[in-house]
Amino acid sequence: MIETQKIRNFFPAIRAGRIISNNAASTQVPIQLLELLNKLVVQYDNVHRGQSKFSILTTELFEASYDTIAQFINAPSRKSIVLYRNATEAINSVMYSLMTEFREGDNIVTTFMEHNSNYVPWYGLCKEILPKFGIKVECRLAKFDKETGELDLNQLKSLVDKKTKIVCCSGASNFLGTKNPIKEIREIANTSGYIQPSGEKKSYLLVDGAQMVPNFLTDVKDLDVDFLVWSFHKMLAPFGVGALYAKEELLSNIRPFLYGGDMIAEGEVSPDKVGYNKLPWKFTAGTPNILGTILSAQAVRLIMDFSLNPGKFVYFMTDKKLELSDVKRAMEKVENHERILIDEALKILKGIPSLKIYGPDTAGKRTALVAFTCENKDPFKIAQDLSIMNVESRAGCHCATLAHHYYGLNPAASCRLSFYIYNNIKDVKIACSCVKKCVYSVQPKEKKNLLSYLRKSFKK
Ligand code: ALA
Repeated sequence: MIETQKIRNFFPAIRAGRIISNNAASTQVPIQLLELLNKLVVQYDNVHRGQSKFSILTTELFEASYDTIAQFINAPSRKSIVLYRNATEAINSVMYSLMTEFREGDNIVTTFMEHNSNYVPWYGLCKEILPKFGIKVECRLAKFDKETGELDLNQLKSLVDKKTKIVCCSGASNFLGTKNPIKEIREIANTSGYIQPSGEKKSYLLVDGAQMVPNFLTDVKDLDVDFLVWSFHKMLAPFGVGALYAKEELLSNIRPFLYGGDMIAEGEVSPDKVGYNKLPWKFTAGTPNILGTILSAQAVRLIMDFSLNPGKFVYFMTDKKLELSDVKRAMEKVENHERILIDEALKILKGIPSLKIYGPDTAGKRTALVAFTCENKDPFKIAQDLSIMNVESRAGCHCATLAHHYYGLNPAASCRLSFYIYNNIKDVKIACSCVKKCVYSVQPKEKKNLLSYLRKSFKK
């Protein structure tokens, strides 16, 4: 397991006494990143837009961040990495970049377990955008098994044909916790027979890695994905940066998503022709989230350290290359840690007869999240009662609205606990035993009012 006792102190929120158990939504920021932010404001300057040594220093750190991010997912180079505000924006960027490539009669295959961000953009393209240009494209949805929470690969395969331009699926579901078999889905997309504009015969594969990249090894070469998106606020960084990985030849050929400054080749703008910048800057129009980018890459380096060298800083703020073998070791430790946590959670929650737990039965098949509903008790009420007991959860559809309707849930909601690398077994036991109390309608006792304590500390 991760040696949590060596890293928990780095998190101000944990030090304040919070039980952080809504990590699938967002994780906490460690003190190292907050201190780094303080240092960065001394050399604060724009990138690619100044000759001062501060601009140059900031540019170097900013560009090196792309290398760290590329190494973490085993991408060949920074040329395959594009940064946006979040994973949702990254998926939208793929949709807009590919928009003009769609042909009459094409289809898109996605699944019933997607986050809305990997369904609604495709819905919008098929139902709202392309019809305005007189082009009909269908969006098809693959089913999953309601009991096991696993994708029905045979049915998915039956949806993919020579008109399928792109297959989109999550690497891991943010509601069911299911880890999806990306290699098998790749195989299905490879044999569709769709002819892409490059002449390549296959459907593209886009993977929503929001619940994958932070939680287990994601090797884009091994998985052979065409597009992968994820967000850094689910892996220790502050809010504001999401990534798109795409194969270099795809990024070279597709249209830019955003047009404007810095995405153009120096001097190559005339009334008749605009030349684009080299990769990845062709996709970086406008001043980017410079500090967020640097902090996101350093969050990746901290995950390496917290996993492999807790308490030491071998990767954080150094030039050390992230070798694939080390990333593999680090992420296997993260995955194992999370498996032990979710195994404990499942054991406790399965002992509550009125709970319906969604997703795979065994910890090995899922990430460290668990969503459940309870007979005769509203998920929002459970989440509110948990909050009174200082346990953080999320009630709602978690933006996996299709999947909640698929189960016929009314309201379309469940309550979810989710854990990350700084959580220990004690957190899991406290969180799950509080669920038990809520379900058995033990009137929640107001614990030390953490919020008023925190508010007072702001005034100091
Ligand atoms: N998609 C995030 C979640 O699952 C926000 O909660």
